[in-house]
Amino acid sequence: MDASLNAELSALLDAHRDRPGALLPVLHAVQDALGHIPPAAVPIIARALNLSRAEVHGVIGFYRHFRSRAPGRHVVQVCRAEACQAVGALELEAHARRALGCGFHATCADGSVTLEPVYCLGNCACGPSVRVDDEIVGRVDARRFDELLAELRDAP
Ligand code: FES
Repeated sequence: MDASLNAELSALLDAHRDRPGALLPVLHAVQDALGHIPPAAVPIIARALNLSRAEVHGVIGFYRHFRSRAPGRHVVQVCRAEACQAVGALELEAHARRALGCGFHATCADGSVTLEPVYCLGNCACGPSVRVDDEIVGRVDARRFDELLAELRDAP
């Protein structure tokens, strides 16, 4: 067992384990800290919360937000909800797939960007909306997407 993973999980579990319904807060905290929920973390989380591994896997699998594999250096989420679709999100999504050479829940070949869907970013009046890591960007068309992508690929 990876000692650093164990130590990191212990701290996160200690911060959340006494909350009612601790599993979701723990999973969010692990993904926020590590970028994903490593498979090796599942038995540790299950034991700490007195759950079965199947229960933990079930929740991770149910919410597409959770990743079991490490993402690329950056995560780009394209809004697929109705208000953004009404102003061009489907075309933007198709462009993003072409530009990155991958679909949703996948990472482009150079490892710079993982593409994910999201269902409303609370930025409906300025769609099509995307989230680039922690920043929400509105009115994104193909040209703006390519600019964002170039910035990400130049960034560390
Ligand atoms: S529908 Fe896209 S931000 Fe709300």
